[in-house]
This record gives sequence, structure tokens and C-alpha cells, in this order.
Amino acid sequence: MADLVPERMALEFDTVADWTRRAVDELGADHAIPAACRGSASPAALELLARECGLTPGVRLADVGGGTGGPAAWAREHRGAVPVVVDPMPGACRTAREMLGIPAVVGDGNALPLASGSVPVCWCLGVLCTVEDQAGLLAELHRVLVPGGALGLLVYTADEPRPPGAPDGNHFPTLDGTLALLRATGFAPGTVTALAGLPDAPASWRDRIARVDAQLARTHGDDPRFAAAEEQARRIGRLVDGGTVEGHLLHATAR
Ligand SMILES: C[S@@+](CC[C@H](N)C(=O)[O-])C[C@H]1O[C@@H](n2cnc3c(N)ncnc32)[C@H](O)[C@@H]1O
Repeated sequence: MADLVPERMALEFDTVADWTRRAVDELGADHAIPAACRGSASPAALELLARECGLTPGVRLADVGGGTGGPAAWAREHRGAVPVVVDPMPGACRTAREMLGIPAVVGDGNALPLASGSVPVCWCLGVLCTVEDQAGLLAELHRVLVPGGALGLLVYTADEPRPPGAPDGNHFPTLDGTLALLRATGFAPGTVTALAGLPDAPASWRDRIARVDAQLARTHGDDPRFAAAEEQARRIGRLVDGGTVEGHLLHATAR
């Protein structure tokens, strides 16, 4: 499963996931959800997706490529959703389970270990640009959703798949291309919201992320794997800051 993800990306999503769990152990459980939101989903973004996807208490949510489980845990804490994470990275799934108590299954978004028509809501946040077969991933999300089910996406888009300075393993779709793929895989796209137009995460959320990052740097700063993972994160940060890559929240309904 780990071979689905290029080596540098695996460092960011697997090795660092294990390190993050240990950092949160040191700093306190209130750091866990912000530290585990690795797709740049802020509380405002999660609020919007939860509202558009109709997440209410007891609603089952499959967070595909859910990483270390931050968004899933936010949905459980703030909306009473009943989440499961699917992610190919064993370290991410371990962290979702052990740090946040979120059920997490190691699996590929292009061959989901979930029954057809079994979930009312899927999220897939910051994942589409990390997979090569983007139509295949959307088709799988459609397969596991009940008819009329809701999909919440956070998609990073660009004018070309690999703009100069792109992180390893990323292939950015265009926004129009993403909407066309959604239609082709059986979805009716709904609203599109630019991530940049949403309020920043509150200072308390950003401070907790900064404390976890500082703890990781203290503990692993000399490890070349830390430097490689940091470089991946810096690259996407630079592209977003420079406007080459844009984040969008999309809501779609399974036809
Ligand atoms: C930017 S992270 C986002 C994590 C999480 N969704 C969040 O917002 O915090 C991208 C995630 O996509 C996962 N991923 C990569 N290839 C995948 C695939 N083929 N199927 C499902 N997830 C995949 C990675 O392991 C990683 O956890």
C-alpha cells in the first residue's frame, strides 16, 4: 500500500504522522485535532463542508485519504458524525486510531475497502492532487456513497499538473477539469468556495500547530527525513502563497 505514495510524500504522511502522535503526547491532547488537519482544512473550511454535506449527529462519514484523522475527529466533536478514515499510510492510520480514537483502515482511495452504497457522506480533503488516477478515485467515492449521498472535497488546482516547484507526487487538476470529472463520474457538482476567501483559523488553533511543529523540529530537526518532509510542505506553501496553486472546497451530490 505504501508504494502507492512516492517516497517523499510517504515521509510527510507516514513518518511525520508517527512523530506527530509523540509530539502531541508531550504537549497535550488539545493539540491533536489541529496537528492532524494536514490538508490545510481550517475550522471555517470544515464548518462549511459539514453544513453543505448535511453532517448531523449520528451520520456516518468516510474520510478518504483522511490522513491522521484531524478532519474526521473535528466532524465527530463538532457535528456528532460517526467517522471512519481510509488512508494508504499505516502511520497515518495508527495516529488517527491512537491519538484521536478514530477508526482507521489502511486502504487505497482507488479501491476502497467499503461496500457499495454504504455511506451517506464522504470527505476527500487535499487528496485528489496526490493521486494519478483522479477519475478512478472519484468513481470509487461515487460507488461507496448511497444514491443522493454528499461528497465534500478540498481540491488544490493549478493551470498545469506540475508547475515549477511542485512537491513530489502532486498532479494538480484544473478547477474546470475537476468539475468535468465529477460530472463524468456520476456527481452533480454544487457550490465551489475558494479556500482563500474563508476566515483564517483562530490564533489558538494556529498556536497549537506551531507548538507541535516546534516540538517536531526540536526532536527530529537533525533527521534528513524531517528536512525532506518540511521541503514538501514548504513547496506547496510557496505555490499557494504565490497564487500558482489555489485551494477550493467543493460540494457534490451522487446522482
Ligand atoms: C494532504 S494529506 C491530507 C490528509 C487529510 N485529508 C487532511 O486534510 O488532514 C493527503 C492524504 O492523501 C493520502 N493519499 C495519498 N494517496 C492516496 C490514495 N491513493 N488513496 C487515498 N489516500 C491517498 C495521503 O496518505 C495523505 O494522508
